[in-house]
Amino acid sequence: MASKYSFPFSKFKFFSGLFFILINVASAQLSSNFYATTCPKALATIKSEVKSAVSKEARMGASLLRLHFHDCFVNGCDASILLDDTANIKGEKKAGPNKHSVRGYKVIDNVKSRLERLCPGVVSCADIVAVAARDSVVALGGPSWTVLLGRRDSTTASFKAANSNLPSPFLNLSGLIKAFSKKGFTAKEMVALSGSHTIGKARCVSFRPRIYSEKTIDSSFATSLKAKCPRRGGVNNLSPLDTRSPTLFDNAYFKNLKSHKGLLHSDQQLFSGGSTDSQVNAYSSNLGYFRTDFAKAMVKMGNLSPPTGKRGQIRKNCRKVN
Ligand code: HEM
Repeated sequence: MASKYSFPFSKFKFFSGLFFILINVASAQLSSNFYATTCPKALATIKSEVKSAVSKEARMGASLLRLHFHDCFVNGCDASILLDDTANIKGEKKAGPNKHSVRGYKVIDNVKSRLERLCPGVVSCADIVAVAARDSVVALGGPSWTVLLGRRDSTTASFKAANSNLPSPFLNLSGLIKAFSKKGFTAKEMVALSGSHTIGKARCVSFRPRIYSEKTIDSSFATSLKAKCPRRGGVNNLSPLDTRSPTLFDNAYFKNLKSHKGLLHSDQQLFSGGSTDSQVNAYSSNLGYFRTDFAKAMVKMGNLSPPTGKRGQIRKNCRKVN
């Protein structure tokens, strides 16, 4: 005999199934073999350009990873960050978090022109950025993950959203948690993604208040940074985010935080007696754990979809709308 609960249960299953389908529509459009028949050499082409760029300058791997982050956190991973300003578009490149700071545009242009010669109008700039970020991490010794493909490129950009959605290095822990939770990430995922700061560099302007006025910094570390980052001027002088192994994608970033050698205020906030301390401890003592969580969080970040849904286009030139 059917239980009296069977009807509501199957109704629950139906609606939860429907809900599951609806929330997965965006990522269901993406697939790992999206270019298998239309541009079979797409992935190998991106990898070879990234490898050669990173072998010329290791930091470029960091810059390409950050480019993907700054694309995805502003209205989804739609290559909006690559659009140059026009009379109609006030782009993202000159927004505070990007100006004089985000790099890698030329590498993406080089990949795009090779792909346009191979298979014109097929591979999106947003997919190129997503794959280049993964290949960069791999080139610097980090974990790999499967990049889902099939993103389309935006026809607009948002200077305003770039200024408001990208986290500032002057945020405290609750501000960081909030900024990531707005994009659907847990505090644990935010800590894993911050592990990106195990590679790359920051400008003096991004960490000056920390080295001159904070107490949560190792004093000899602060002294050595002051030599490169004076009280006044030198805004663009660079320092590695991870001084131990700046071009290796490892877990040294978390070890630095434990010895109060986080470069940015926001970095050190992850280990300052708050709720994320235990996660920093876990990642600093277990490289494999960090690598696995980082790769998972990167797949999730890469699936942040633009609100335009099916609209958009495959740009011919990543800097311009067709
Ligand atoms: C948790 C919040 C975050 C804040 C506040 C933050 C802030 C910053 C700042 C201020 C810089 C230096 C920029 C400059 O001085 O020019 C930087 C660099 C960098 N960030 Fe983040 N970031 C965060 C999260 C992330 C995430 C999630 C990723 C990647 C998934 C990432 C990847 C990078 C990389 C690789 C660099 C070095 C780039 C280069 O050398 O060109 N960051 N970040």
